[in-house]
Amino acid sequence: MSQIENSVSSLDLTNKSVLLRVDFNVPLKGNELLDDERLVRALPTIKFLAKKARSLKIISHLGRPEETGLVQDKFSLKPVAKKLGELLQKEVKLVNSIKELKSLDNISMLENIRFYKGEKQNEEKLSKALADTADVFVMDAFGTAHRKQASTYGVTSFIKEACVGFLVEEELQALKRIIDSPEKPLLGIIGGSKISTKMKVLESLTKHVDHLIIGGALANTCLKALGKNIGKSLYEKDFIELAKTIIKNKKILLPSHVVVTKGRDSDLEEKHVDLVDDDDIIFDVGQTSIEDFSKYINSAKTIIWNGPMGYFEEERFAQGTAGIAVKISESKGYSIIGGGETLASFSNLNMMDCVDYASTAGGAFLEYIELGTLPCIEVIKNKKLGN
Ligand code: 3PG
Repeated sequence: MSQIENSVSSLDLTNKSVLLRVDFNVPLKGNELLDDERLVRALPTIKFLAKKARSLKIISHLGRPEETGLVQDKFSLKPVAKKLGELLQKEVKLVNSIKELKSLDNISMLENIRFYKGEKQNEEKLSKALADTADVFVMDAFGTAHRKQASTYGVTSFIKEACVGFLVEEELQALKRIIDSPEKPLLGIIGGSKISTKMKVLESLTKHVDHLIIGGALANTCLKALGKNIGKSLYEKDFIELAKTIIKNKKILLPSHVVVTKGRDSDLEEKHVDLVDDDDIIFDVGQTSIEDFSKYINSAKTIIWNGPMGYFEEERFAQGTAGIAVKISESKGYSIIGGGETLASFSNLNMMDCVDYASTAGGAFLEYIELGTLPCIEVIKNKKLGN
């Protein structure tokens, strides 16, 4: 049963136009999508709306472009609209203006909403302009539901009706299990490259979990805070002080061994973290560490994983992420993964079946664990139906 009264299935959409916010912030290589999981997971809502409503207007962001009002090719949703059209076997017209979005019937998609001034600051002018394009707002961007922005939050106040889509409902249902009464021991695994976003939630995560494995560039920052030489590896200088506090917590588990190279084309070597040279770059966690971590994975009754263990985009640095995924698939605990990079790494490695549930959300997933709700879900819950 839905946890939210304002569900897309409870609205009469006959002859109504719908504005749908999705999270199609997917990894791209040129014009190619490296992973389409976020599109696939939004299809039930899109197909439902395409059938029931008069018109469907889709909005998403992609990456973090400047709000110049101009299309920046690197952040264009063109490849995403094309891919969605293929999945739906219908044309998805990509438009550059909110005025055009309003005028169209059938299925259309607005260019990256983060090109528009006022999105990030949740400005009223943009929120109203978006609200004016349709009768109903459907929020299905669970991965962006922690951002109080015009297209995720502000628009709800100005549109006649607002509700959540099927993906948000599914995600809330799955996360309920790990928030309300997780079976213990609860193991957290966190990695990835969004150091600044994730560093801030590490402290609160330690309150929920029994142990927390840290990998990826986050681990580099913690190793540096421990006074280790991390050579030329990626880390966040501004977060060293915070990392110093975090690593004091006994629940934190850092890799003892890492995979390094002297350069992207050089050979790999697994080294103890005390033996990293000045010209080494850490790109993955070592196999020795995966074996060390496996005892925590085996005894965990619940596992939450967000962010890859290394630079998975290159196969030779994906072994740490793959190794942990294999250990999870062999464990009996209930496992849930989340995040754009995590999903991409799992689908690249064909390992989606290793886990019990894959959330499309990354930062939102972590914030939900911390707060038990998200602002863009709350604003919809508080909106009167048929308002
Ligand atoms: C994500 O990938 O976590 C979401 O799309 C949110 O992206 P953001 O961190 O750039 O707001």
